[in-house]
Amino acid sequence: MKPVYILAIETSCDETAAAVVKDGRTVLSNIISSQVPLHTMYGGVVPEIASRKHVEKINPVITEALKKANMTLEEIDAIAVTYGPGLVGSLLVGLSAAKAMAYAAGKPLIGVHHIEGHVSANYVSHPDLEPPFMSLIVSGGHSHIVIVKDYGEYEIIGRTHDDAAGEAFDKVARAIGLGYPGGPKIDKLAREGNCNAIAFPRAHVEDCPYDFSFSGVKSAVLNYLNHEEMMGNEVNKADVAASFQEAVVDVLATRTVAAAKEYGFDKIVISGGVACNSALRYKAQEICDSENIKLYYPEPILCTDNAVMIGAAAYYEYLKGVRDDWTLNAVPNLKIGERK
Ligand code: KG4
Ligand code: ZN
Repeated sequence: MKPVYILAIETSCDETAAAVVKDGRTVLSNIISSQVPLHTMYGGVVPEIASRKHVEKINPVITEALKKANMTLEEIDAIAVTYGPGLVGSLLVGLSAAKAMAYAAGKPLIGVHHIEGHVSANYVSHPDLEPPFMSLIVSGGHSHIVIVKDYGEYEIIGRTHDDAAGEAFDKVARAIGLGYPGGPKIDKLAREGNCNAIAFPRAHVEDCPYDFSFSGVKSAVLNYLNHEEMMGNEVNKADVAASFQEAVVDVLATRTVAAAKEYGFDKIVISGGVACNSALRYKAQEICDSENIKLYYPEPILCTDNAVMIGAAAYYEYLKGVRDDWTLNAVPNLKIGERK
């Protein structure tokens, strides 16, 4: 069969990214222009600044992606773009660029769900991986346990009732003075700390065994810091980071494995920015090994936001014949498994 080359674009948050992916599994280029340094001084992503930076970067990033792949637009089979969820102003930049190029070059347009992209990053990192499997999706905006029944077919069985896991990492990092982005900084500092130093809570959501709640552990960290400050005690930040991280990854790993066992899956796939977390990888691997479950996660560069994952997800939509028209719009709160 003739290979399918997809040019993919991702601008849902603070990375301007474009990639060329062959047959959904092979990376020909992966260009990511990160805005992290720009937002660091504000302690988080400022949506208007993010949109403006995307406008500035989108054309050079796409040009670079084609150049690195050694391809022209004419040789591309389809253009894929994230249309939700995400920041509306950021999404619109990528979407407009993708539509303009698809229209001008007469190429099919495929809108991709950002979170389905995160899951699909695993198809690139693990060429033999195929659905069905149990999946944990943990990013700055999402914490879900999902059954991936087939390519593009999802059933959510667990969700967060408040903060997403990455959001909790970012908030706790800010509280202990580590700054933005918090996840990688907590991960690093935690290596120097004792994860059993402070007993932070693991919240259970009544009657929802696979749901999460992270606002309690976040508040417990804030209360601990206030209490220590009031008592005039010096806080061991590495112990706080390690103990907080342990509380979060313990819940993520044990609930996902429990879900896999209940639904009879011997494969667990983790994805999203928090899938970079070394303690989560270690803990999940440890439990999966003892339960004879095979664990998959993408290489770090494909865990955080990138366009390769969008090209991978789009490939399976392309094969199914999914094509979007010129009315495709940004959907900031797009749900998993939903198409608009
Ligand atoms: O998937 P992603 O790049 O963007 C979203 O779609 O949200 O995820 C970003 C989130 C941030 O909250 C960031 O702090 C978290 O992933 N993150 C991590 C690590 N690397 C990124 N959290 C914990 N440990 C890490 N090593
Ligand atoms: Zn993401």
